Amino acid sequence: MKGGMMKRIATFNRLHLVGVVVCAALTVACAFAQEREVKKDVPYVPTPQTVVDEMLKLANVSKGDVVYDLGCGDGRLVITAVKNYGARRGVGVDIDPQRITESNENAKVAGVTDRVRFAVQNLFETDFKEATVVTLYLLPDVNLKLRPKLLRELKPGTRIVSHAFDMGDWQPEKTVTVEPGGQRLFLWTVPAKTGSAATTGNVP
Ligand SMILES: C[S@@+](CC[C@H](N)C(=O)[O-])C[C@H]1O[C@@H](n2cnc3c(N)ncnc32)[C@H](O)[C@@H]1O
Repeated sequence: MKGGMMKRIATFNRLHLVGVVVCAALTVACAFAQEREVKKDVPYVPTPQTVVDEMLKLANVSKGDVVYDLGCGDGRLVITAVKNYGARRGVGVDIDPQRITESNENAKVAGVTDRVRFAVQNLFETDFKEATVVTLYLLPDVNLKLRPKLLRELKPGTRIVSHAFDMGDWQPEKTVTVEPGGQRLFLWTVPAKTGSAATTGNVP
């Protein structure tokens, strides 16, 4: 091969390499930027499957229930509710698009896509009025911030189960500890809407 041609090939290879490196750097930068853009109130920590089962049993999930998981992670609570506990429908919302992609994939694998819906949404802006059961694995201050909306918007009789964290001075009607992990679960039932509690969402 002529010397000129060799030089041109070498230059092309160098430019190609620079291009690949720049592309890789941009991809990583975009991934970091996306991660930073998702402002979460709670980090992602999945509930172990044994605890998922105990939460759904505590809420007495059965045929006819509409189960909402606020901050649904990979969708395991909602998917288990419809697949193994006969819930009519399940809805999961999560602020992180990656979690919703995983939830949809998991619903496909479980064969329940016709009975679940997952959406990228802030749980503080979610319309969950139709729920008969709400599941939570958030943080103490997030539970407290959410409490007035739960009390105002959920129908009387709706069950709320929280993994790990309580609701301050709204006393749970039942608390259980799941062994061997020692996870604590709390159950409340939304009371009849009487007096100012109906509009203020104050603790009954
Ligand atoms: C501790 S994880 C619980 C996941 C799932 N519920 C479970 O029990 O396996 C909390 C989830 O809430 C989501 N999250 C945090 N802030 C949120 C918000 N403001 N609105 C909706 N989801 C949120 C996180 O992305 C994360 O997936």
